Amino acid sequence: MAQTATTRQSSGTQDEALVRAVNVMKSFHGNEVLKGIDLTVRRGEVVCLLGPSGSGKTTFLRCINQLESIDGGRIWVDGELMGFRQDDRGQLHHLTDKQIAAQRREIGMVFQRFNLFPHKTALENVIEAPTQVKGVRKGVARARAQDLLASVGLADKSAAYPGALSGGQQQRVAIARALAMDPKLMLFDEPTSALDPELVGEVLRVMRELARTGMTMIVVTHEMEFAREVADHVVFMDAGVVCEEGPPEQVIAHPRNERTRAFLRRMRNAEERGGEGGGEEGGRDVPGPAAAADLAADAAERPPT
Ligand SMILES: Nc1ncnc2c1ncn2[C@@H]1O[C@H](COP(=O)(O)OP(=O)(O)OP(=O)(O)O)[C@@H](O)[C@H]1O
Ligand SMILES: [Mg+2]
Repeated sequence: MAQTATTRQSSGTQDEALVRAVNVMKSFHGNEVLKGIDLTVRRGEVVCLLGPSGSGKTTFLRCINQLESIDGGRIWVDGELMGFRQDDRGQLHHLTDKQIAAQRREIGMVFQRFNLFPHKTALENVIEAPTQVKGVRKGVARARAQDLLASVGLADKSAAYPGALSGGQQQRVAIARALAMDPKLMLFDEPTSALDPELVGEVLRVMRELARTGMTMIVVTHEMEFAREVADHVVFMDAGVVCEEGPPEQVIAHPRNERTRAFLRRMRNAEERGGEGGGEEGGRDVPGPAAAADLAADAAERPPT
C-alpha cells in the first residue's frame, strides 16, 4: 500500500467528502475483484452504483463497511481511515475487531435479503442494536423505533413478526433498523431486487424520502428510474474498475463508455421483456447469517449494564 496519506483528515465543512475511497483493491484467493476503485461521496449526496453481476459492487460496499478488509488503497469515512491506523512513520496497522465494530456502527447497511431476526417483532428488530450495542435504554429505544417505523409507513406493524410481513414491509423494517443506529452513511445493496415488482415502489419511496432528509447514501441498484431521479452521481463499475461516472443524465441517458452502453442496453431489453434484476444472472446474495453474526459480534462487546 502507498504510505503517503494521513490517518485522519480534516473534518468540517458541509461540502466535504463523507466517503473517500482511493485505489481500493481486493482479491479473493488470487482473484482480483476490485482493481483500484476511486470514489468520493460528499455529505448528503446519493450515489448510485451500477454494473453487471460480478463486477464487484457488493464487495466494494462490504469494504466500505469493513465487512471485508481491503488489500490496497484507503477508505475514509467522515475523515476517519477505515480498518487501519497509521503510525508516525506512515506504517499502517490493522485496527482491532472492537475498533472496527465501532467504525461499522456509524454506517447503516441494507441488504437484498432483509436479514431480520425472525423470532423478534418489527419493533424488537429495530431496538436490538441500539439497546444491545449502544446501551440505549429500552424505553428510549422503543419510542424512537416507533417513530422510525412510522417514518417508513409501518406505524401499525410494530408488533408484527417478519413472517407476517410482505417483502416490502420487511425491507422497510430493515431500513428503520439501520436508521435506529443514527448512521452517518447508508449503504444499500440492491434493496429491491428480491421483491415482487408491486412491492418495489414502496421501498423506493422510503429511500427517496430518506435522500430528501439529507442522508448520505450509496445505493447499488438496477432501478434506473430511481437512479435518474434520486442520484446526484452515478458510478458504473465493470470487472472491478470504475468505467464511467457522472451525473445521471450523463451516465444513464448519454453514456460514453461502450461497456456502460452495453449494460444499459441489456437492462432495457430485460425491462421490455418484463424480466427481473436487469437480466443479470447469478446474483450472489449477501448471506443473511453473516449480518446477524455481525450484529451478534457487536452485541458481544456491549458494556455491562
Ligand atoms: N467471499 C468471497 N470469496 C470469494 N469470492 C468472492 C467473495 N465475495 C465475492 N467474490 C467474488 O467477487 C466477484 C465480485 O462479486 P460481487 O458480489 O462483489 O459482485 P456484484 O457486482 O455485487 O454482483 P451481483 O450484481 O451479482 O450482486 C465475484 O466473482 C464473486 O464471486
Ligand atoms: Mg452484489
